[in-house]
Amino acid sequence: MNVAVDSCFIEPGREMPDRFCSASTWELADTQWPSHEQRTLTCTRVSAETHDVRTFVFSARDGRLFSFEPGQFITVSAEIAGKEVSRCYTISSPPTRPHTLSITVKRTPGGVMSNWLHENMREGVELKAFGPSGVFTPSSGPAAKLLYLSAGSGVTPLMSMTRAALDLGLNRDIVFIHSARTPEDIIFRNELACFCALSDKLRVVHVCEAPGNEPDRSGPVGRLGLELLSQHVPDYRDREVFICGPGGYMDACRKMLEEGGHEPSRYHQESFNFAETTEYAEGPGAEPSAEASGRIGYTVQLARAGRTFTMDGSQTVLVAARKAGVPLPSSCSQGICGTCKTKVLDGSVDMKHNGGIRPREIDKGMRLMCCSRPTSDLILDL
Ligand code: FES
Repeated sequence: MNVAVDSCFIEPGREMPDRFCSASTWELADTQWPSHEQRTLTCTRVSAETHDVRTFVFSARDGRLFSFEPGQFITVSAEIAGKEVSRCYTISSPPTRPHTLSITVKRTPGGVMSNWLHENMREGVELKAFGPSGVFTPSSGPAAKLLYLSAGSGVTPLMSMTRAALDLGLNRDIVFIHSARTPEDIIFRNELACFCALSDKLRVVHVCEAPGNEPDRSGPVGRLGLELLSQHVPDYRDREVFICGPGGYMDACRKMLEEGGHEPSRYHQESFNFAETTEYAEGPGAEPSAEASGRIGYTVQLARAGRTFTMDGSQTVLVAARKAGVPLPSSCSQGICGTCKTKVLDGSVDMKHNGGIRPREIDKGMRLMCCSRPTSDLILDL
């Protein structure tokens, strides 16, 4: 089924129940899954969303129900080529369907976990995951009128929020603008079309960079800008805005809304940058960064990669490495997910994490590079 959704229309809204504004709406007392607790999930279904995006549906091996807030992510781990690999993925299913939990993953060139999932995950295969985390949820900006902006696989947290609102019969006035490369790249296209048919309060607009194989498609072609936004959502200044997508897209949206006079306190964006969810690879060979402004300079040596760069103690190792053209594995950049966990072979750091590493890992010399600042020269097991 291929349904044009660009013209679905809603009328102004009714009252929104208070319960949607509270995190406790989603908390099922006996089913909490703490973010530091790793559990085993069993895949129950795999479905293709587009040519390079699949949804993986899981149930808990122990049969427990899932409890989370729409917009949160989990950190999945798998042993790939003899190494433990962890990545964050936003939950695309809603908490209103607690028997299963879904992630929707785009296959990225060179992406270790995304390619592994696409190639290996099928019904019955198990995966380990740490519990839900993240503050990009409706609880952070409760409102009756919403504007959801997403690009690429950034659609997933907003889809969880939309599904939850629909499941609960909430009459929230939602305009959902999703940007994709071509119509073939639109994720959840048919489901959103069905939602529009069910709810006169939801309007979906798909903005495609190119018409792809639908030259006669009537929806907007190009990139989302202030003119297009004003045309499709003239009351955008009255709406609570939730944005998720690649870093460049979120930056452009923030600037666009600022220019348009949208109140910044009503703007919420996913805190980790999907575009920066990279695997470790040899960088393009940028020269080591210079020591900054007279502060103490430290040398950071990547033992296995044979690379060295310098930095001062005011930056995290992750940020300094990026500036030096050395991309390290990372995802949340907040000390939550554990993706950037690295063994410090020599030297010391000051680490302020948010639960992404266990005491026994710290005892073994592991540290999170996204929230560690050097206090001496370092040699890292990278
Ligand atoms: Fe998530 Fe460092 S990138 S803990």
